[in-house]
Amino acid sequence: MKKATILLLCAATQAVAHPGMGRVMAEIQARDDFVLGARSGSLLGDLLSGVLTAVGQVIKDILQLGTGAIDPGSGGSYTPPGKLGSSACNSDTLCVWYYVASQMWGDFADAGGCTDLGRGAIRQGFHDAAAWDVNSAYGGADGSLLLSDELSRSENRGLEEIGALTKTYYSTYHPYGAGMADIIQLGAIVGTVACPGGPRIRAFSGRKDNSRAAPTGKLPLPAMDAPTLIDLFVKKTFTASDLVALVGAHTAAKQRFVDPSRAGASLDTDPQIWDASFYSETLTGDNKTTFILHSDKALATYSVTQGQWKTFAGSSGQSLWSPVSVVSLYEW
Ligand code: HEM
Repeated sequence: MKKATILLLCAATQAVAHPGMGRVMAEIQARDDFVLGARSGSLLGDLLSGVLTAVGQVIKDILQLGTGAIDPGSGGSYTPPGKLGSSACNSDTLCVWYYVASQMWGDFADAGGCTDLGRGAIRQGFHDAAAWDVNSAYGGADGSLLLSDELSRSENRGLEEIGALTKTYYSTYHPYGAGMADIIQLGAIVGTVACPGGPRIRAFSGRKDNSRAAPTGKLPLPAMDAPTLIDLFVKKTFTASDLVALVGAHTAAKQRFVDPSRAGASLDTDPQIWDASFYSETLTGDNKTTFILHSDKALATYSVTQGQWKTFAGSSGQSLWSPVSVVSLYEW
């Protein structure tokens, strides 16, 4: 059985026996995860059935073996067999995605690295996927962020521009088979690699779109403290270690709505590149040169997560962080 599932069952049982114990159990598990350097190998849905397609098997191996036997990155190249809409292109599954990714690259990368739209695309992928947890019957990476009215929710402020652009991608490429959920997740991957240093990540397509707005209350908020954030992510099958790695995506981030008087302030000094300096700057920064979210500072200084945060902030942080983040990003 999945580790996170066991944890949740454990926590639920204890909570019934002793009200308030659920949080304690989650914290103990999270601390163990840190000590062991563990990341979640949780499987969900079809992946649990044991009857897998070839792609399902690859995804399962990546999730469970990490950077071992199956490389979560991609090293291949691809030449489309024809123009978009040609019969040669229509009969090749990858072809439409070549055109989607090419247009995204033009929008998400410039001479300096990733653009505002590229950074927005990374956050957008997270906000579509993370509006879900193991107790949700729907939600997740299903395109509902842009197929419903979710974008008007306060936690999604700042995604208006990338959301509008992504809807134009959908209008252009949906007639050739590209779904909204896949476009959004591909955008997060292209946005990441558009930031120099950003890992090149395999993209999978085939998600099912849903126009039903995702359940509320599943996304993290900047005012949350560390235990609340850890609980929130454990319910999404991420360990505390995974969370520390994932939130490093704030290496490519600006804020506009947490403090509108400092709109455009970045969360590290070089938001156009993908490096580990976000960790050290959050740990030691004065919240003037860069903007430090309360939630990031909380994770940087909380007993369970501060050790790993400091490791990523250290001199070998870049090499240690990148492989972890590649794997974690996969689990959305
Ligand atoms: C602890 C959990 C997290 C919290 C509380 C949080 C919160 C925030 C907030 C408040 C902003 C600024 C929004 C604005 O005012 O415009 C932001 C930006 C951003 N976040 Fe997070 N976030 C979290 C985790 C993540 C994760 C896991 C990812 C991706 C894997 C991510 C990716 C981004 C990106 C790329 C931006 C920059 C967007 C831009 O520059 O337009 N965040 N986040």
